[in-house]
Amino acid sequence: MNFQLTEEQEMLRKMIRDFAENDVEPTAAERDEEERFDRAIFDKMAELGLTGIPWPEEYGGIGADFVSYCIAVEELSRVCASTGVTLSAHLSLASWPIYQYGNETQKKTFLHRLATGEALGAYALSEPGSGSDAASMKTIAKKEGNDYILNGNKVWITNGGVADIYIVFAMTDPEAGHKGISAFIVEKGTDGFTFGKKEKKLGIRSSPTTELIFENCRIPQENLLGEEGQGFKIAMSTLDGGRNGIAAQALGIAQGALDAAADYAKEREQFGKPIAANQGISFKLADMATEVEASRLLTYQAAWLESEGQSYGKASAMSKLFAGDAAMRITTEAVQVFGGYGYTKDYPVERYMRDAKITQIYEGTNEIQRLVIGRMLTK
Ligand code: CAA
Ligand code: FAD
Repeated sequence: MNFQLTEEQEMLRKMIRDFAENDVEPTAAERDEEERFDRAIFDKMAELGLTGIPWPEEYGGIGADFVSYCIAVEELSRVCASTGVTLSAHLSLASWPIYQYGNETQKKTFLHRLATGEALGAYALSEPGSGSDAASMKTIAKKEGNDYILNGNKVWITNGGVADIYIVFAMTDPEAGHKGISAFIVEKGTDGFTFGKKEKKLGIRSSPTTELIFENCRIPQENLLGEEGQGFKIAMSTLDGGRNGIAAQALGIAQGALDAAADYAKEREQFGKPIAANQGISFKLADMATEVEASRLLTYQAAWLESEGQSYGKASAMSKLFAGDAAMRITTEAVQVFGGYGYTKDYPVERYMRDAKITQIYEGTNEIQRLVIGRMLTK
């Protein structure tokens, strides 16, 4: 057993940390305040090869592994969780299903554009009446000649509006329940595809979350991903890896909050000594650091399993569950270590706390992760 990162993974971490601290962190608070997505940051990620980390070079990627991908999301989220989820949704939710289920033409076109960062990706499963119960979706795709006609609404879509390529799930056979769901690759600009409400959110405010509207939207059958009726399997298996991306996001947020709290506890003096000299504070930091490390081990383990071609669905649900809950506890404690200052926008810990909350909700709430893990243990 070897817990050492490889030289390549260490180099990648250093490169991403430099990028995150120099190009992402300086505007993170301002973008959060203004709810502003910055495409230039995504373009810079593309220049660095981050938009195609795990894909082979023939599809525009850099051929690294899934641990490297997690390190990227972690390091970005350590300074800006919105930027972390932009990459996570792009890579594991929009690109992965094309890599896994796409035909050669779809990989050479859509995946290549995503991997090189020419295009930004999004994944559209949720609907107003269908969140945790994803199979109960209402969006319809009706076959007409060589096309499918899409009608319905998707909500909460990360990168919605700014993304160029969307993986959209719709019912091709409503009578068949989850076996009647199919997956489509839909490009921005397609007639009948527009954007609705952009959500105003508690956290990850510089990551746009937007409604998608399909009104008689005509999709060529070449854009069917996998086979008709295979959509729910595609959606679920995509989430197996996506959930570990969210674990990496939670891990990064927690590490950022811990680093900030530890620095502050050494500097801030009360009663004539640094507050870190009180066991009440140093024990808090010790618990936070232990939970960060446990999150990291679970997250890297799930990513390693995926890279090794082993089963990783349960490991991903566990990493997302643990790291998400831990990030919420750790960021709340970080605000506590900062006292009143932590409650203000003068320091980043209130943003970390707001951002952490979403990691318990999206890509399946943590109740759904428990359901997934429980079913796997007892099936
Ligand atoms: N891989 C492949 N197939 C899978 C699977 C997986 N991980 N999980 C389930 N399936 C298959 C099952 O084998 C079954 O197939 P058969 O009928 O052929 O046997 C079929 O799917 C139905 O399975 P279930 O009976 O378990 O389905 P269910 O309706 O009970 O739902 C659920 C299961 C786990 C609750 C699922 O609905 C779910 O994951 N809900 C949460 C939705 C979610 O996570 N949404 C995230 C949206 S993306 C997002 O949020 C983006 C972001 O953060 C940036
Ligand atoms: P509901 O399903 O209505 O759940 C409400 C509550 O009931 C939750 O606490 C839930 O855990 C609980 N609950 C429901 N069923 C059970 C059960 N069986 N057992 C125990 N408890 C249960 N979706 C996409 O498709 N693509 C995206 O890119 C995307 N990005 C998102 C970004 C943001 C910022 C947000 C907020 C959401 C995003 N989502 C996205 C949607 C997200 O995945 C859903 O919000 C999530 O799956 C929960 O669905 P819901 O909000 O409808 O809650």
